[in-house]
Amino acid sequence: MSRRVRKAVFPVAGMGTRFLPATKTMPKEMLPVVDKPLIQYAVEEASDAGIDHFIFITGRGKQPLLDHFDHMPELEALLKERGNVTILNSLLRAKPQPGTIYSTRQQQPLGLGHAVWCARAFIGDEPFAVLLPDDLVQASSPCIGQLMDVHRETGGNVVAVENVALEDTSKYGILDVVEDDGRLARAKGLVEKPASSDAPSTMAIIGRYVLEPGIFDALERVQRGSGGEIQLTDAMNHMIGTTPMHGLRYEGRRYDCGDKVGFLEANVSYALRRPEMRARVERMLEDILSGLRE
Ligand code: G1P
Repeated sequence: MSRRVRKAVFPVAGMGTRFLPATKTMPKEMLPVVDKPLIQYAVEEASDAGIDHFIFITGRGKQPLLDHFDHMPELEALLKERGNVTILNSLLRAKPQPGTIYSTRQQQPLGLGHAVWCARAFIGDEPFAVLLPDDLVQASSPCIGQLMDVHRETGGNVVAVENVALEDTSKYGILDVVEDDGRLARAKGLVEKPASSDAPSTMAIIGRYVLEPGIFDALERVQRGSGGEIQLTDAMNHMIGTTPMHGLRYEGRRYDCGDKVGFLEANVSYALRRPEMRARVERMLEDILSGLRE
């Protein structure tokens, strides 16, 4: 049995250049899917999985992310006065217990591995979760919780995986698989963003990880990799041989909200799942499509 995962790291220092100009002064993690920002989906996923400490690895201009998880007394008083309980409760849900949200600045954009390394003092010597808010996962049971269940049995590093098209391997960390029971795969190697001709498989890491604290040592040892950055994938690869490395085909559906079409898809899909919006959204989609056909 492995130790319980209590802490989650949210790397949120990225500049969001793909969504400019929308993200010129607003962190990309504040982009809303229907009415909730991406960061809140990620924090709620971790919290629903039983995680109770959250660290944001931020950069310049990311203060709104921290403000989002704080009280806003004037707004709360106004909603209370107007009796708008539903909206008030939705605001209060975004407010974790005092003393459970932390942040540190990455200072330099040296990659995902470096961002995670910045959390080393906060994490200490225990396994922990990493969630990339760009990857939004719709699931009946929180994706990170599914990884935590596997980690309890296997220990080691566990990542969420899905099979991608061969031409897309260069967008992901890819597993070199040695055993695969159709749900859980054990890896003998990992490669960050290989060209399709060099990819050991099409099994790609999506942005959910449960990591052993040994990752911090590994991160100090790895050289800069893909894109000249310190890569988390390379550090996990470095640990193979001494630390089990598993990929879980999680149950659920991922939306790549770092991509414009993926983000739009998430909005449509989440809106269609809202009973009060569904009929109108269906009609809207039909109208748009028939308008295009005319
Ligand atoms: C990061 C990781 C990559 C992983 C991906 C999942 O890449 O480096 O291994 O597959 O997230 O979204 P990024 O999308 O930040 O370039």
